[in-house]
Amino acid sequence: MTTGKQLLIKNGTVVNADQSVVADVLCFDGVIQKIAENISTDEAQGAEVIDASGQYIMPGGIDPHTHMQLPFMGTVASEDFYTGTAAGLAGGTTMIIDFVIPNPQQSLLEAYKQWREWAEKSVSDYSFHVAITWWDESVHRDMQTLVNDYGVNSFKHFMAYKNAIMADDEILFKSFSRSLELGALPTVHAENGEVVFQLQKKLIDNGVFGAEGHPQSRPPEVEGEAANRVARIAEVVDIPLYIVHVSTKQALEVISRCRHEGQQVFGEVLTSHLLIDESVYYEKDWASRAAHVMSPPFREKSHLDALWKALQSGNLHTTATDHCCFCADQKAAGKEDFRLIPNGTAGIENRMEVLWHHGVNAGRLSINDFVRVTSTNTAQIFNIYPRKGHIQVGADADIVIWDPKKSKTISAKTHKQNVDFNVFEGMEVNGCPSHTISGGKIVYINDELKVEKGAGKYVNRPPFPAYYKPRPLHKRYDK
Ligand code: URP
Ligand code: ZN
Ligand code: ZN
Repeated sequence: MTTGKQLLIKNGTVVNADQSVVADVLCFDGVIQKIAENISTDEAQGAEVIDASGQYIMPGGIDPHTHMQLPFMGTVASEDFYTGTAAGLAGGTTMIIDFVIPNPQQSLLEAYKQWREWAEKSVSDYSFHVAITWWDESVHRDMQTLVNDYGVNSFKHFMAYKNAIMADDEILFKSFSRSLELGALPTVHAENGEVVFQLQKKLIDNGVFGAEGHPQSRPPEVEGEAANRVARIAEVVDIPLYIVHVSTKQALEVISRCRHEGQQVFGEVLTSHLLIDESVYYEKDWASRAAHVMSPPFREKSHLDALWKALQSGNLHTTATDHCCFCADQKAAGKEDFRLIPNGTAGIENRMEVLWHHGVNAGRLSINDFVRVTSTNTAQIFNIYPRKGHIQVGADADIVIWDPKKSKTISAKTHKQNVDFNVFEGMEVNGCPSHTISGGKIVYINDELKVEKGAGKYVNRPPFPAYYKPRPLHKRYDK
């Protein structure tokens, strides 16, 4: 597909993870065609021109963790692939990696095809992790088909959600071993689902039905235990590991120990976990408490400080949102029993501006760090770099032009996300996208979206051949 028209971005500073340079950027046919100090409008005749004076030209954000229109806990997430990817573009995110989550006993390929169909209306590029929620020979076989024929290079494992999609140690071991053979990366939601289940029951038996029961049934140790167990399983299998939505000091300790010992463990943090603490579960209004119900829950403040430090020091690698929206009427399903409140919060539209404000403006991250943790690291970890995550000739023209002087106050009344609550309500942020460019086209300008349903493309992610290191199971005595 051709965009038909050239796009020339002039007078800005190109910011990549490794360096910043003052340069113009010319895009054509969906890719970056030229980067040079001064590209004249004569050379790019007929091009649409953006004046990016005083602004940064950065790789579009990649959100590695979203759940558009997810069927979950008896309902379906309110944000679909059209509204959700559009909200992402408004916030400078030009690609998502969402999750195919088969029901236990459902064929992986059938679920994958279902999600691909749902995602056809996406307005930005997208890709899928596939969850392993059960095990048999067909799962073993379909994992190979997904890797070889459908561009999937990561499999997700939920250690929580007992009696639904939880993966036990047997599944973790078998799936990690299979991933090693295929060159795929295992990813995990690390919470001990059995302990959560028992704590939930205990709270209910003791008359705790309100939303505060949610964080109380998921203490930090539950995440620390699961992170440690799964890291050790990955160590035994000898495969790298990616832990999603790390929210506790306990899980960070595991990641830093593993990395210190040379084990390849990557950590993802949610913008919301960096900024919101557990006090939201003790507000008067039940609807507001329920609106914050997500797993893992928001934590006591010292965890937030530790998460920022890990992001700064390189023990956390990517930032995500876990964008999974439920409106007040959906959350109300758990009015009498916190276990029935659909888990999930929104954030795709605000991830980058919140990180800029509290990361770059606050002196915690350099602008290059910002690019690294919002885009480049994700592209590298999930093997789509430098097509994504880098401003260079030949890369996809997925770009955000960032105005450090533009400010706004975040609110559910004005956001583009299809949900009636914003966990960052009232937060003022300085630094926002002025333009978002997807596939060489301007899709967001002057606070307005100019998107075309279905314009987003599926992104194949090739496997990692270097992983496969067959080792003998038994040491044999050779004469
Ligand atoms: O509460 C959450 N995070 N909902 C979405 C599913 C998951 O655990 O990622
Ligand atoms: Zn999760
Ligand atoms: Zn999730």
